[in-house]
Amino acid sequence: MTDKLIIFDTTLRDGEQSPGASMTRDEKLRIARQLERLKVDVIEAGFAASSNGDFECVKAIAEAIKDSTVCSLSRANDRDIARAAEALKGANRGRIHTFIATSPLHMEKKLRMTPDEVFEQAKLAVRFARNLMGDIEFSAEDGYRSDIDFLARICEAVIKEGATTINIPDTVGYAIPELYGNFIKTLREKVPNSDQAIWSVHCHNDLGMAVANSLAGVKVGGARQVECTINGLGERAGNCSLEEIVMAVKTRKDYFGLEVGIDTSQIVPASKMVSSVTGFVVQPNKAVVGANAFAHASGIHQDGVLKARDTYEIMRAEDVGWSANKIVLGKLSGRNAFKQRLQELGVMLESEGEIMAAFAKFKELADRKSEIFDEDILALVGDESVTA
Ligand code: KIV
Ligand code: ZN
Repeated sequence: MTDKLIIFDTTLRDGEQSPGASMTRDEKLRIARQLERLKVDVIEAGFAASSNGDFECVKAIAEAIKDSTVCSLSRANDRDIARAAEALKGANRGRIHTFIATSPLHMEKKLRMTPDEVFEQAKLAVRFARNLMGDIEFSAEDGYRSDIDFLARICEAVIKEGATTINIPDTVGYAIPELYGNFIKTLREKVPNSDQAIWSVHCHNDLGMAVANSLAGVKVGGARQVECTINGLGERAGNCSLEEIVMAVKTRKDYFGLEVGIDTSQIVPASKMVSSVTGFVVQPNKAVVGANAFAHASGIHQDGVLKARDTYEIMRAEDVGWSANKIVLGKLSGRNAFKQRLQELGVMLESEGEIMAAFAKFKELADRKSEIFDEDILALVGDESVTA
């Protein structure tokens, strides 16, 4: 088993399925180039058979991207798969990602197929795809709500047909970390040829556990690919967020023991680009990429961070692409943070008494104003004390 975690980004496919997040070809190309700078291993560029527009997007991305594998989704039928292969022709490295639902609910009510029919169709789809391309991913849609023995039989069969990655989605975000991790582990144990494929997790965020479930799928289940999106964009409550999964695995390498190839300094630029293209604002308290993710407002925290950043920071803002962490001056700030900001602004007050007087004025103002900006401080101390 490799100790590298493959990062499969599906912002341009599952992310785009988020209502209101549809993107033009040029916007998708811009994001794909940023994903390449981010060094994601696989970019799912779209669903080539879903429309001519999406076909053109996958094709353009396949031709433009050199360093990441470019992938297209396709249902488990020859027409979809052939369309995906056609769109991926120009790729340096291409992947066909074919899927079919395997849960009793989806098979009976949505597909109106028997389990045996689904089994046969999955096998034939992978066989057909494998004749067109070497890199084939098979997904069992609603895999987590499927019967594990039936799922194991399908996984074994599609691996025999040449699937190189097996993805077990929690399509509706129903999983709980411990249960999902154990599900993937038990499933792999039930599949005799499981070591001939890379196992992948794909979690939705309906109960807010997409990242936790994915991490359990990796740590307990032994998955070595995670499917995720920038800012957690995706259907309903979204998908597992790329920035969170990557920084969790990197920050807690002591626990996960895995390598990720991501250039983390490109995370914030990627987040901002996806937010501005889709118009989906990132909440300020969002982990890693939210505006407050590295901001300190309380006096005790500010004092700690000014003495040693590790006191209240487990990651460096600069490592994920922010220019620096942020000390937000307000009513909770202490004298130390205030003095430090005076220095940064080039304000030289003569004596400790003057500093105390300015600090008292600052506290008075902060009781009336939630955030104190640099301009407020300059106005408060008077311009004549500015020397730099
Ligand atoms: O959530 C899901 O099941 C999917 C598959 C099509 C991979 O997005
Ligand atoms: Zn999905």
